[in-house]
Amino acid sequence: MPLTRLPVKQPFAVLSARMPDSAPRPLVSRRPGAPLAGAIRVPGDKSISHRALMLASLALGETAISGLLEGEDVLRTAEAMRALGAEVVRDGPGVWRVAGRGVGGLVEPADVLDMGNSGTAARLLAGILASHPFFSVMTGDASLRRRPMGRVIEPLRACGARFVSRAGRLPVAIDGARDALPLDYRVPVPSAQVKSALLLCGLNAPGLTRVEEVQATRDHSENLLRHFGAEVTVGRWGAGRIITLAGQPELRAADLTVPGDPSSAAFLVVAALLVPGSRLRIEGVGLNPLRTGLFTTLREMGAKLAVKNERVEGGEPVGDLCVAHSALRGVEVPPERAPSMIDEYPILAVAAACAEGTTRMAGLRELRVKESDRLGATAALLSANGAEVEVAGDDLIVRGGVAGGGLVATGMDHRLAMSALVLGLATAAPVGVDDGAFIDTSFPGFVELLNGLAEGPAPIAAP
Ligand code: S3P
Repeated sequence: MPLTRLPVKQPFAVLSARMPDSAPRPLVSRRPGAPLAGAIRVPGDKSISHRALMLASLALGETAISGLLEGEDVLRTAEAMRALGAEVVRDGPGVWRVAGRGVGGLVEPADVLDMGNSGTAARLLAGILASHPFFSVMTGDASLRRRPMGRVIEPLRACGARFVSRAGRLPVAIDGARDALPLDYRVPVPSAQVKSALLLCGLNAPGLTRVEEVQATRDHSENLLRHFGAEVTVGRWGAGRIITLAGQPELRAADLTVPGDPSSAAFLVVAALLVPGSRLRIEGVGLNPLRTGLFTTLREMGAKLAVKNERVEGGEPVGDLCVAHSALRGVEVPPERAPSMIDEYPILAVAAACAEGTTRMAGLRELRVKESDRLGATAALLSANGAEVEVAGDDLIVRGGVAGGGLVATGMDHRLAMSALVLGLATAAPVGVDDGAFIDTSFPGFVELLNGLAEGPAPIAAP
């Protein structure tokens, strides 16, 4: 019988995640011959992009999303929501339309949901699936299969869902609750992913879902839930917050624009700070105060970094970042700042290695369970390049002074790859990475964008 070729839907075919056995993409960066200069935009915020696709899929009607991050992580979420019955269509670059099925209206997926490299996609979706009465299985790539899922599975069980996992890690099979119960839970670790999973589960449970967090973490879920019409309250509780969600709301389609990702802008900000003479304007960056710890820290280090044109777009503060080359000095970064810059420690460590004096970054326990053990891997990145660095308990201590010349093992971690490449723009000797392919999970076009800012030969290239 002849094989039938099915028409393949465009975004998923073109941008599917890299198979683990496909060739790695080694890269090397070196000092550019001229300053970095220009006005640019960075891709859409990853956290908001995942949530926008998920909530639009649970809303009634059609939501237009612009500025969506088209990185591999978010495409996994798009693909999963489609497998769960939502209509998810790409209209043009960054412009997507989602026709949702209403709260509780998703359907059983025909196959395993593969979340690729994305912890946010896997954990948030676990929350949604827990309160839908059907069977599903989630898996991910080798990095994601190593990361803890127990932190969402354990509290989600209380809604009535059954989970079978491999020692609290992916793959996980989920038998969603028929009549989900609302959750009341204190999240023991500062994690926006855990908080969000519980709130998303609560959407399809009657009554009040209540989540306490010991330290405030990014509140994009709360903001977007309100944007789509849910009733959410937020109360302060020491350094933390108590969030409630009224269950089974009728979410309604609501268009939105995703701001530029401050966690992606971070790499360009530090690149401009380190390359002499540089001056950059990064437009339309999300400036939610629960995300901007890096910018605060860099200013304390002496960075010339200003925000212009501040405004609110889609419930989130947004502005243009203006940054110029600056001499940096070491600082103490307090542990309570960690949730607001949790993804930025690798690039901050690079800035610290190029600063004068010592920087101590305290309270980084959560870094051990990211796309790699980011605490150990960040220390290894710097010591491979001749910097003096120490991990003391959960603290990272970096003494200024770094020569470059190292080859960095990125361990399937996009942020380590970008941090190492930014370091090479400032060191006397070039810096190599074993694999830059995972950069596409959060920042497609990073290499081309950075190269476009430097006059003359591209500072980042294949070795
Ligand atoms: C994210 C939360 C953080 C962060 C991740 C994105 C989110 O993870 O590191 O990149 O979108 O909620 P944790 O919740 O595990 O801290």
